[in-house]
Amino acid sequence: MKPFQIKNDIFWIGALHPDLRLFDIIMRTKNGTTYNSYLIRDEKIAIIDTVKEKFAHQYISHIKELVDPGKIEYIIAQHTEPDHTGSLSSLLEIAPNAQIVCAKVAVKYVENTINREAGIIPVENNSTLSLGTRTLRFLSTPFLHWPDTMMTYSESDEILFPCDVFASHFCDSRMFDDTIARDFRPDFRQYFEVILRPYKRHLRNALKKIEPLTIKTIAPSHGPILRKNIADYINCYKAWAAVKAENKPKRMLIYYASAHGNTEKMANKIAEGARSVGLEVELFDACTIHPEDHLERIENADALVFGSPTINNDVVKPIWDILTSLATIDIKGKVGASFGSVGWSGEAVQFLDDRLAAMKVKVPVKGLNAVLVPSEEELAECYTFGQNVAKAVAMDVKE
Ligand SMILES: Cc1cc2nc3c(=O)[nH]c(=O)nc-3n(C[C@H](O)[C@H](O)[C@H](O)COP(=O)(O)O)c2cc1C
Ligand SMILES: [Fe+2]
Ligand SMILES: [Fe+2]
Repeated sequence: MKPFQIKNDIFWIGALHPDLRLFDIIMRTKNGTTYNSYLIRDEKIAIIDTVKEKFAHQYISHIKELVDPGKIEYIIAQHTEPDHTGSLSSLLEIAPNAQIVCAKVAVKYVENTINREAGIIPVENNSTLSLGTRTLRFLSTPFLHWPDTMMTYSESDEILFPCDVFASHFCDSRMFDDTIARDFRPDFRQYFEVILRPYKRHLRNALKKIEPLTIKTIAPSHGPILRKNIADYINCYKAWAAVKAENKPKRMLIYYASAHGNTEKMANKIAEGARSVGLEVELFDACTIHPEDHLERIENADALVFGSPTINNDVVKPIWDILTSLATIDIKGKVGASFGSVGWSGEAVQFLDDRLAAMKVKVPVKGLNAVLVPSEEELAECYTFGQNVAKAVAMDVKE
């Protein structure tokens, strides 16, 4: 699609990718996406982000239609994920005088992306860059969703370029929220859910930084450009990123799988023990749930306890499926524990403990095994185990 002017010599020069059905391996994109790049034609010419490499050819020809590429002074790399830096090398070839502007931490990522010499200007929070009639201001907003992310603001245009925040994987060539025909709100939400949700605390910081700005247009890195009821979009993000209510009862979730009922017996006793010291406990048979339906519940829980028998020297798949579904939520710092019935080798529980620790979950009590049918003594151990995990939750003070 041809470039078009958003306002005041600021042009969209991005690419449409309507048939994309999977983004970053983790996200289904039934409505495709767009890679939004912006060109500002001032006394000095600046470009904000580029597009995926696959679209470099048309991207370069569109830029040539707008400006003499030799006169491009700055390429602002707000985030070095290849959907935004994929055409950076091609752009540098036609814009040999351009300097790359990026966050300090992004310098090495830019170098490892272009693998050639280039002028790089590292910027900090609130650094400014004059283009002549307008001045751009950079806001450091790391981990949205890479360590390198920054936003760009032009006060005179009242426009914010927030990179992947406020983005949607949604492709409509009309490109503005008030001109597109279909409702993209579910895609706007889904983008947050899948890409930004693990970084809620970073989002809260970023939202504080944009709070004092006058914003009439939000020009994100994917999907529609926003200019209608801007406050609504910001309020959505505020609500989604908000800290959950304090003083709610502490909650433990126990997910178990059990072929012959042995691990299940352990699960019930562990629940009893945890309840005896005041925790709310919910038990789920992992074979009967869909992990994606449990993300919210897991995100809001204080303790996550996993039970698996050892089957063929491993944890069973329904339990692994839950653990591999948690990449899009923040479980760091929660309390975790594991248990299971075993026959002879009994590897599952150690695998679970290791996995929880690798996910930066606190594992205060070593995982508990019972051999085949749990005995009265083993069930008593389960009860104490439940109590001990629950006590660790009660004592846990979140930073
Ligand atoms: C197909 C199969 C494979 C098993 N493989 C192992 C194993 O590799 N190591 C082990 O310690 N126990 C193994 N076991 C034994 C189970 O861990 C044991 O029967 C356990 O009590 C099952 O717990 P559940 O009733 O909760 O399913 C296996 C059991 C089955 C049915
Ligand atoms: Fe990204
Ligand atoms: Fe992106």
